[in-house]
Amino acid sequence: MLASGLLLVALLTCLTVMALMSVWRQRKLWEKLPPGPTPLPFIGNYLQLNTQQMSDSFMKIGERYGPVFTVHLGPRRIVVLCGHEAVKEALVDQAEEFSGRGAQATFDWLFKGYGVTFSNGERAKQLRRFSIITLRDFGMGKRGIEERIQEEAGFLIEAIRGTGGAFIDPTFFLSRTVSNVISSIVFGDRFDYEDKEFLSLLSMMLGSFQFTATSMGQICEMFHSVMKHLPGPQQQAFKELQGLEDFIAKKVEQNQRTLDPNSPRDFIDSFLIRMQEENNPNTEFCLKNLVLTTLNLFFAGTETVSTTLRYGFLLLMKHPDVEAKVHEEIDRVIGKNRQPKFEDRAKMPYTEAVIHEIQRFGDIIPMGLARRVTKDTRFREFLLPKRDTNPMSLKLPVSGNMNPHALSTSRLGRHELHMPHTFCPKTHRTCVLQTVLFRRHKPHVCIASYLRDMNFLSPKAPP
Ligand code: HEM
Repeated sequence: MLASGLLLVALLTCLTVMALMSVWRQRKLWEKLPPGPTPLPFIGNYLQLNTQQMSDSFMKIGERYGPVFTVHLGPRRIVVLCGHEAVKEALVDQAEEFSGRGAQATFDWLFKGYGVTFSNGERAKQLRRFSIITLRDFGMGKRGIEERIQEEAGFLIEAIRGTGGAFIDPTFFLSRTVSNVISSIVFGDRFDYEDKEFLSLLSMMLGSFQFTATSMGQICEMFHSVMKHLPGPQQQAFKELQGLEDFIAKKVEQNQRTLDPNSPRDFIDSFLIRMQEENNPNTEFCLKNLVLTTLNLFFAGTETVSTTLRYGFLLLMKHPDVEAKVHEEIDRVIGKNRQPKFEDRAKMPYTEAVIHEIQRFGDIIPMGLARRVTKDTRFREFLLPKRDTNPMSLKLPVSGNMNPHALSTSRLGRHELHMPHTFCPKTHRTCVLQTVLFRRHKPHVCIASYLRDMNFLSPKAPP
């Protein structure tokens, strides 16, 4: 009796000591997190954040707490890295530690950690390696990427000519063109511009992409455990993402039925062949990763570049003097009788500087895609715990004017100027397209093809 009483007391003492130690460890960790505004229970720092302009809110907090700070998006704790120095130190100098992918509530609703973009660990490594090699193979095969881009640029010009000079919303003109380049690699073929299913896919991509930048998208990001059950525009975004997944799943089934293992036609075939070759029951080369990686590539390959082009054309309309200089360079280097080529870029420093400026000033993903630390990580004088901290990166605020004149004469490394990490090969989760080389080529050929034959006019002054 006495013995069991003593045992109980010892057990309770042990448990109490363990609980106290855990609280103490938590407190120590907490003390080492970067500073930031005090959060309220559940809503976190919601009251300090303007959900319509999140990156501006972060910049303001950064002015007070420094370039590395902690913020609570609702109940979720994140660390924000603000400005080139901090972003470079983390994602380039400590590339391994910062190579995890962080949460993004709207997309996570569908991806749940599968597919190349939103996965982590071994899965991300394997899918990334496979995607890069396969995209390269198809991009450099018989019909290289240059030819595919030239062909699509030709279709774009034809479609615009077909409007007879009417005022048009260029959104889907541009996204059809851009999307067909990646489609021809992942699905083995381009879509006809009038294909209703294609137009609906483009609209689903645009809708869900734009939703993430809205105020509601940010609220969903903060309170996703509640928001995903409530009615509202987030349900439309989920429906659109689901529609995209269903489409890819259908394409995969079609490929499975007609697969010739000796002659892969596209990215999907190559993945299916790899699935057949795997003997490992825990392989990452499974149907779910196939469908969601294909969707990652299709989505990223469409929305990013077409938004860049749309924004670029708007900027050129706003700056007719810049447009005139680009025209002059195109006339001089390419002329009217041939298609633009990748190699022209070297002889067109002004157009290159303009494209760079469009990417810098357009700043289409201002906060980047969230990262996650892969282990408890010492960063500057702080300690970022692996368990629940999502570092989110942010660049400098974009300055007020587009200024290609300064850049065209500059010898600065251009990547360093606007996206120090996204396209830097030293970080472990760079944009896949940097490695297959058509991030800058594609805007170059599209813009050069377009301006070779056309001018822009707007019915009212561009905003
Ligand atoms: C101007 C065009 C583009 C911009 C601004 C852009 C931007 C980005 C950014 C900010 C990231 C996150 C990188 C990081 O975590 O550090 C990313 C990743 C990625 N991008 Fe792009 N991107 C562009 C074009 C493309 C294209 C055309 C594709 C199509 C194949 C693509 C595929 C991807 C993929 C698959 C990832 C995820 C990589 C990973 O998590 O390992 N991107 N991109």
